[in-house]
Amino acid sequence: MTPFAHLPSADGVWTDLRLAPEALGEASAAVDDAAIVVQHGHIVWVGERSALPAEHARAPQHNGRHALVTPGLIDCHTHLVYGGQRANEFAMRLAGASYEEVARAGGGIVSSVRATRAASEDELFALAAPRLQALLNEGVCAIEIKSGYGLSLEHERAQLRVARRLGEHFGVTVRTTFLGAHALPPEYVGRSQAYIDTVCHEMMPALAAEGLVDAVDVFCETIGFSLAETEQVFRAAQRLNLPVKLHAEQLSDMGGSALAARYGALSCDHIEHLSDAGIAAMKLAGTVAVLLPGAYYFLRDTHLPPIAALRAAGVPMAVSTDHNPGTSPTLSLLLMLNMACTLFRLTVPEAVAGVTRHAARALGLQHSHGQIAVDQPANFVLWPLGEVAELAYWLGQHPQPTVVRQGRIASAIYPPAPLRVTPQGAAPAVWPSQPGGAPGSGT
Ligand code: NIG
Ligand code: FE
Repeated sequence: MTPFAHLPSADGVWTDLRLAPEALGEASAAVDDAAIVVQHGHIVWVGERSALPAEHARAPQHNGRHALVTPGLIDCHTHLVYGGQRANEFAMRLAGASYEEVARAGGGIVSSVRATRAASEDELFALAAPRLQALLNEGVCAIEIKSGYGLSLEHERAQLRVARRLGEHFGVTVRTTFLGAHALPPEYVGRSQAYIDTVCHEMMPALAAEGLVDAVDVFCETIGFSLAETEQVFRAAQRLNLPVKLHAEQLSDMGGSALAARYGALSCDHIEHLSDAGIAAMKLAGTVAVLLPGAYYFLRDTHLPPIAALRAAGVPMAVSTDHNPGTSPTLSLLLMLNMACTLFRLTVPEAVAGVTRHAARALGLQHSHGQIAVDQPANFVLWPLGEVAELAYWLGQHPQPTVVRQGRIASAIYPPAPLRVTPQGAAPAVWPSQPGGAPGSGT
């Protein structure tokens, strides 16, 4: 594989582009004949090609071949670095066991902990690299990677170091999240408070001092950690000036989202059982609701997150893979777009904002990622597709986009592939302001 630093520069003028609606920011309209100018890896101009300043005429030219352009996609919730896999538990669940039962029987997260601890950093890197590559091939330009399968200082460190190394190797923005409070490690069984003390007073400060932690997360659940334990972890994060996120209300309503919002959380994730009070608290705090339809689907959950209420309250909604070996072994963010629309009834613009603008905000990256804007690093994707709804429409078709990531042409498909689908009905100039129906309704 060509090392990232040796990939061709994307500097120059990109023309014959169709900008997707919202690509330039909230409520921006589609642009049918656009240009983007990249200099030193950053966007210095974007707009209608007819308005392109003459000064750029002598820069290298890149023909976009009428591709549809979106900002680089962002996968804002993953557990990408781990050893082993858990197909056996999938089979157990199909035979009737629940996720909680598997966890209580010593499987679940703890079985991935055993496999992760047994792997070297090089092995963890070699396992995670093709997973990351699969996501990058679909236009991902920024990704969050959590720890949480080490559950000791040494092994959490290994996971986070591998996450950083992946970012450098692939030239992709990686935000690391310390999820030491993911499950109780076997050596602490019956001593939950002692483990939380270790997380707060030993692991988190040490890993933060090593520059390995961009945010802190907790699995707040009956099979995870209590509300009081979650708050102790949040306090420790606050002392270190680290932003927090939460695995919240996935299997039951623990009130975790309201607590997280009180600590100014970047996001609350899963939230199938989120209450009205939780929604109100998130709205007040500006916390993003991260929807994880892959886990909902894979666990055969039937309790939908309160999409209509989140929409009505104006809480920004992001969409992510939650890639992990237990509940969401998917490596396709586009498939998650489809599921967010089909299962959760997001509209296409909501789903696209969910993997761009709102996902950026869920990582605190809203000033540098998630839209195509001047002065931001050049992260954008040229899709050989007729209309933006196709991003959510195709199932398992890999559209092979041209990806400009961190100012380099990072995909094998360059020059851009010709349009695969003749645009039949042009996308409406104005998106319907009202979604088609309530979650679960419609066809
Ligand atoms: O996001 N809910 C907790 N954490 C992961 C699952 C981890 C696992 O089962 O390995 C999630 O779904
Ligand atoms: Fe998760």
